[in-house]
Amino acid sequence: MRVFNYMKTYLVTGGFGFIGSNFIRYVLDNKKDVYIINVDKVTYAANPENLADYSANCKFYKVDIADKTALSKIFIENKIDCVVNFAAESHVDRSIADPGIFIKTNVEGTLNLLELSLKHNVGKFLQVSTDEVYGSLGASGKFSEDTPLSPRSPYSASKASADMLAMAFFHTYNMPVLISRCSNNYGPYQFPEKLIPLVIINALNNKYIPLYGDGKNVRDWIHVSDHVKGICSVLEKGKLGEVYNIGGNSEAENIDIIIYILNKLNKPHSLIKYVKDRQGHDRRYAMDFSRINAETGFLPEYNIEKGIDSTISWYIKNESWWQEILSGDYKEYYKKMYENR
Ligand SMILES: NC(=O)c1ccc[n+]([C@@H]2O[C@H](COP(=O)([O-])OP(=O)(O)OC[C@H]3O[C@@H](n4cnc5c(N)ncnc54)[C@H](O)[C@@H]3O)[C@@H](O)[C@H]2O)c1
Repeated sequence: MRVFNYMKTYLVTGGFGFIGSNFIRYVLDNKKDVYIINVDKVTYAANPENLADYSANCKFYKVDIADKTALSKIFIENKIDCVVNFAAESHVDRSIADPGIFIKTNVEGTLNLLELSLKHNVGKFLQVSTDEVYGSLGASGKFSEDTPLSPRSPYSASKASADMLAMAFFHTYNMPVLISRCSNNYGPYQFPEKLIPLVIINALNNKYIPLYGDGKNVRDWIHVSDHVKGICSVLEKGKLGEVYNIGGNSEAENIDIIIYILNKLNKPHSLIKYVKDRQGHDRRYAMDFSRINAETGFLPEYNIEKGIDSTISWYIKNESWWQEILSGDYKEYYKKMYENR
């Protein structure tokens, strides 16, 4: 139960994941008038440890957003002011191997949340989306919010579908929907299958670092704390029915990210192992985020070097966090994907 009536209740889905947990920590640290309901299925990517010190003003429901009956009870039991939907299957490689669960969670789950939010008159619904819905760029240009959606992986197709459903609820039912689309995140508590933590951990363990294709795929990297602040800006100042790109101003090739981390850790470049490219691998993403800047003042605070340095320090200090993941169920997947190629 929220303690005071003046408090606003945010229903946050996927709060035990990487970005969701960073968001909840930021909100509880900075907004004393917000009560959080964290709805998480607790998949392989979730870690309750991410919120170990954050039980005050925060309640957890272990619920699958694809289970509408269970989700509905949460909306009946609580007066929800705002929904922020992070819950998703989020790894492109896994979507290539097994797309079905991506449709179930990312599309059907989002539809359930939209329907229940409409039914219970939720004041704001923010769909957390990705630059990957725009497809792939050539050597120049950037994605703006007007770039046509052209998703090319099962993951990005599921996210684009969810965005379109969210926007359909705005247009059809006048529901107060916002969409944020962010570039590639990195930072504390990121599951080690994603590029930056994978490289840091493998380098620390003197294990080889798999690099897809020619290593020249470009991503715009953003520190998760900047993403979280961008989401708060959109929630506070965004126009309903609008999409907001969030970017980090830090375009880099995968190979350069890896070399930077190896140099920082004094590890040899011979740890890099070129592996067969990801199927349908998008070549380049870059974000024009002038809209959020103009309308809310948002600008990322981290440059890529400062962000990666602090992320390396976090993984060194928090070895027990990732050692536990490496020794659990993830071990088999890691072997298949990253060791036995
Ligand atoms: N990681 C990035 O670089 C990035 C960039 C842009 C947008 N996003 C989006 O941000 C959101 C969060 O990404 P992340 O990297 O933190 O993901 P993550 O994989 O680290 O966490 C996802 C969380 O969602 C939960 N979840 C999964 N399926 C669920 C279900 N059916 N019901 C309830 N909970 C469920 C998981 O248990 C986990 O806690 C996603 O929607 C993703 O598409 C991510």
